[in-house]
Amino acid sequence: MRVRVLGAGIIGLACADELLVRGHEVEVVDPAPGLGASHAAAGMLSPSSEVWHGEEEILRLGMASLALWPGWAGRLGVPLTTTGTLLVGRDAGDLQDVERQVALLASHDVRGDLLSAAAVRRLEPTLSARVAGGALLPGDHSVDPRAVVAALLARVLVRAEADATTPDVTVVATGARLPAPWTHLVHGVRGEVVRARTDDPPVRTVRGWVHGVPVYVVPRPGGEVVIGATSEEHDAPPVATLGGVARLLEAARELVPGLDRAELIEVLARDRPATADHLPLVGPTHDPAVVLAAGHFRHGVLLAPLTARLVADHLDCGAVHPALEPRRVLPVPSAPTRGAPA
Ligand code: GLY
Repeated sequence: MRVRVLGAGIIGLACADELLVRGHEVEVVDPAPGLGASHAAAGMLSPSSEVWHGEEEILRLGMASLALWPGWAGRLGVPLTTTGTLLVGRDAGDLQDVERQVALLASHDVRGDLLSAAAVRRLEPTLSARVAGGALLPGDHSVDPRAVVAALLARVLVRAEADATTPDVTVVATGARLPAPWTHLVHGVRGEVVRARTDDPPVRTVRGWVHGVPVYVVPRPGGEVVIGATSEEHDAPPVATLGGVARLLEAARELVPGLDRAELIEVLARDRPATADHLPLVGPTHDPAVVLAAGHFRHGVLLAPLTARLVADHLDCGAVHPALEPRRVLPVPSAPTRGAPA
């Protein structure tokens, strides 16, 4: 098939690469490749710390995609950090949140090992002595999303504008900004992120709550750390605010005090592409020429290889994932439509 992918974030590029590997003719269109949410993402491959009560489908999807990551990262030549996540609580109330998370995971047969304050610090000496305790999620990985995007951009040709031809299928992967008539299906949830460099990074992702404020510190090879992330529903362009960044840094330094000496590299904000049910939109629309791969909310990096596979399976043999297919939220049209979005 001749496929046009709109959007060169990690989702669009992953779909394009998979379709190319499977022998399709692919054109990717994006005036600013890789500079949307993928540019700010921390790259936690951590289904177990991103699942909340009532949203367990994301755990199943995340686990399935996590299993694809080592092979996919190998294909792209991008290193994975495989040291797990340390979930920590600063005070007794925060520790209850950790325990609730571990209980939720246990009910789905996912391992999380509760640890005393002393055991948490033995495992991660960069942590503050004031941390109340935590849990190790040993199955988690992390990756640098910018490295993934760079590897994909080396394999996939991206144009700023579409050419004049009409593809057989258009895959819409434009993140938080979908073209009409799908615009209303995704809204932005701003996340502010700080990147810094330190001589003394934690050896694994440290994630937790500090007096109720959620925060994560994700180490990258070479001493870089990504500190995130605020979460705010809004309808203005995503800008980093002094208040958001101050709360993030306060919480991160409370968990990892050595970050005080870290060199500040970058502060940025992007919109997470959220759907009403917090599940992505992956699969066919009522227009046979348009497939969506959007609305990945907090899980775009984690779910990239699974999404690419689902989109390619749909184009190759009509397969549809019932929990993700966009028609679950689309009204049935009164008459068949055809025609790709602009
Ligand atoms: N997945 C991390 C975040 O959305 O902040």
